[in-house]
Amino acid sequence: MEKYVIQGGNPLRGEVEISGAKNAAVAIIPAALMVRGVCRLENLPEISDTDTLLHILTYLGAKVNMINRTTVELDCTHVQMDILPEKMWELTRKIRASYYLIGAMLGRFGRARSTMPGGCNFGERPIDQHIKGLTALGADMDVNGGFIRAAAKGGRLKGTTVYLDKVSVGATINIMIAAATADGRTVIENVAREPHIVDLANFLNSMGADVRGAGTDVIKIRGVKQLHGGSYTLIPDQIEAGTYMAAVAAAGGTIRVSNVIPKHLECISSKLREMGVQVEEGDDYVLVRREGPLHRANLKTMPYPGFPTDMHPQMTAVLCCAPGVSVVTEGVWSNGRFKYVGELKKMGANIQVEDQSAFVQGVDHLTGATVKACDLRAGAAVVIAGLAASGVTKVEDISYIERGYQNLVGKFRALGADICCVDEPDLPDGQHSAGWIAG
Ligand code: UD1
Repeated sequence: MEKYVIQGGNPLRGEVEISGAKNAAVAIIPAALMVRGVCRLENLPEISDTDTLLHILTYLGAKVNMINRTTVELDCTHVQMDILPEKMWELTRKIRASYYLIGAMLGRFGRARSTMPGGCNFGERPIDQHIKGLTALGADMDVNGGFIRAAAKGGRLKGTTVYLDKVSVGATINIMIAAATADGRTVIENVAREPHIVDLANFLNSMGADVRGAGTDVIKIRGVKQLHGGSYTLIPDQIEAGTYMAAVAAAGGTIRVSNVIPKHLECISSKLREMGVQVEEGDDYVLVRREGPLHRANLKTMPYPGFPTDMHPQMTAVLCCAPGVSVVTEGVWSNGRFKYVGELKKMGANIQVEDQSAFVQGVDHLTGATVKACDLRAGAAVVIAGLAASGVTKVEDISYIERGYQNLVGKFRALGADICCVDEPDLPDGQHSAGWIAG
């Protein structure tokens, strides 16, 4: 089984180039199903979630032409399938974003059938707001036995006004995609405002849609007859950038995080400054330096522009060595997404979880251990802890991490970290194989 092996303690120095945004890519690729014509996507992240979605589209009949590692031309003109074939079920059950295929197929064909989505296990992940929105657009929705079936009454969706009872990134995206070619005008109220929502709206508009208001809490969509081909460059990944910023905060050193939109990072930059980290913003980069001791800080996650829930585990990892007690409160996911805390404790962290908050008592140092990536961002958190710890950390279940971070090992190595990926047989707890450090 492949693992990351990290010899902690090296400060990070140099420059890291941020890839395209995962959560924009996993919305835009399914949305391309709505487009008749060639759709060129640039700055796509090279991660397993995008590979999975491109594979699904290919199977459905799309022409997928990789121009280079981060540019693809997608032509879905001749796709005719509105039912996800059984061979694809394993893949759609693996990732969260597969449910955007429902919005896209409904918008394009007036019918859709797929499995329930997968993705990181943060406890219960309801889709009632997706169902509410697509139903309001005139679809009969049936969620049963692990499948979602949808059919537009009269074969076409009809614009309407929908109020989301919960601010949901996924529901906002699914309804936006489906409404792009619905008859008439759709107004979605109380929507998510994350950068990838704006990116999806910009993508749809560059393919001929009429979507306004993305980035505010009301989105208005005038349905168009059909979307046409075009070219679109994805925004950089806010969370990938934040992860490298958190890593230098934990390990010390100075790094330049390039190809970012500093505005998207403001809440992360401010919180790191509160923690004693220097963050200077340039036009398309941030310079992050941590030399002195860390300061304790409290944070609470909220929908954008609040502190992103997808940065919470990484920030807890940083706060493990900040003297005093820091309180990290999860305000988006109801089960707190605290599974990673057990892993950080194996490294000597002192953390108590009560309800939606983790109380982090700073310790003098963390010590390397064998830990698991419990999910994508939980995996990033243990990597960060490993970079800051003394001794060797082995991170197992790295497939979670590779779903969302392009070339994480290469990027950290270029910053001077001692990290590598090894293929090492799993041994019973407490036993270690010899000679496992490679590369
Ligand atoms: C997306 C991100 C995920 C991030 C999350 C919040 C992708 C692929 N994933 O997930 O990394 O952590 O946004 O920023 O983009 N909810 C409902 N009913 C619904 C939908 C959601 O009650 O129909 C609740 C959820 O349980 C959660 C909250 O709303 O408590 C936010 O969920 P949502 O924004 O939908 O997250 P995802 O789109 O699944």
